Amino acid sequence: MNFNPFSLAGKTILVTGASSGIGRTTALACDRMGAAVVASGRDSERLEETFNLLETQPKCQVTADLTHNDDIDKLLSSLPPLDGAVLCAGNSTTLPLQFGTREKFDGMFDINFFAPVELLRLMYKKKVLKKGASVVLIASIGGTHSFMPGNGVYGASKAALNAVMKYAAREYASRKVRVNSICPGMVDTPLIHRGTITEEQLAEDAKRYPLGRYGQPEDIANGAIYLLSDASSWLTGHDLVIDGGFSI
Ligand SMILES: NC(=O)c1ccc[n+]([C@@H]2O[C@H](COP(=O)([O-])OP(=O)(O)OC[C@H]3O[C@@H](n4cnc5c(N)ncnc54)[C@H](OP(=O)(O)O)[C@@H]3O)[C@@H](O)[C@H]2O)c1
Repeated sequence: MNFNPFSLAGKTILVTGASSGIGRTTALACDRMGAAVVASGRDSERLEETFNLLETQPKCQVTADLTHNDDIDKLLSSLPPLDGAVLCAGNSTTLPLQFGTREKFDGMFDINFFAPVELLRLMYKKKVLKKGASVVLIASIGGTHSFMPGNGVYGASKAALNAVMKYAAREYASRKVRVNSICPGMVDTPLIHRGTITEEQLAEDAKRYPLGRYGQPEDIANGAIYLLSDASSWLTGHDLVIDGGFSI
């Protein structure tokens, strides 16, 4: 029996942030589900590591710093027609709001908001997204909950991303392009181990999650597979919270 509504066989899917963490795991999961993956990241060596693990052909890698318009244009011109995209590239900062200057907000919005929004806009406008394509934006529960002090700047960028997601879903439905987001809780990736929060604080914080742990990148990648696949073909404009029950 070959019944598998989550298959991505025959689909071509772009994953940004594919050089690390959630993006890398999502790229590899899409590959294993049969998709031809276009992997994009900023660091060429780390991107190469991901690329070398991809098995489904044709595969492609594009190094791009998505805060630079020239690099967005380079990525766009390298893209084949897409059945899906997971816009995962992003960053975080832990910063009390009293230090949240306009400059800090601008820096966070550049990568977490303007980069995916510009990429989405141009992929739609230039018809890189095929009719019926599915786009997944990686947002955060930081956009809806004060999940940890000092995440106001970060949370604002993700809340804004979710707002645009809903309008894009409505407007792009005329071409049957679906747009959804995933709002992860804390996920064990290099992003959370940069020293701004100590390992002891992280271990303590993980106990606040009803399911007793932080997420693994696979928890988010599996959600992305659902949203990319035909199993979710009647779902658009939805922010899928994957957070081990934290937000309840
Ligand atoms: N981990 C969490 O707890 C968590 C929770 C909620 C949401 N998220 C979101 O999930 C996404 C992935 O995060 P992660 O946890 O997987 O972090 P990560 O391991 O640090 O990966 C971040 C990815 O974004 C890429 N990136 C950063 N700045 C970029 C830029 N200017 N241009 C192009 N690519 C850039 C990085 O590329 P290079 O490595 O090549 O520089 C890397 O591939 C982010 O949007 C993050 O906000 C994470």
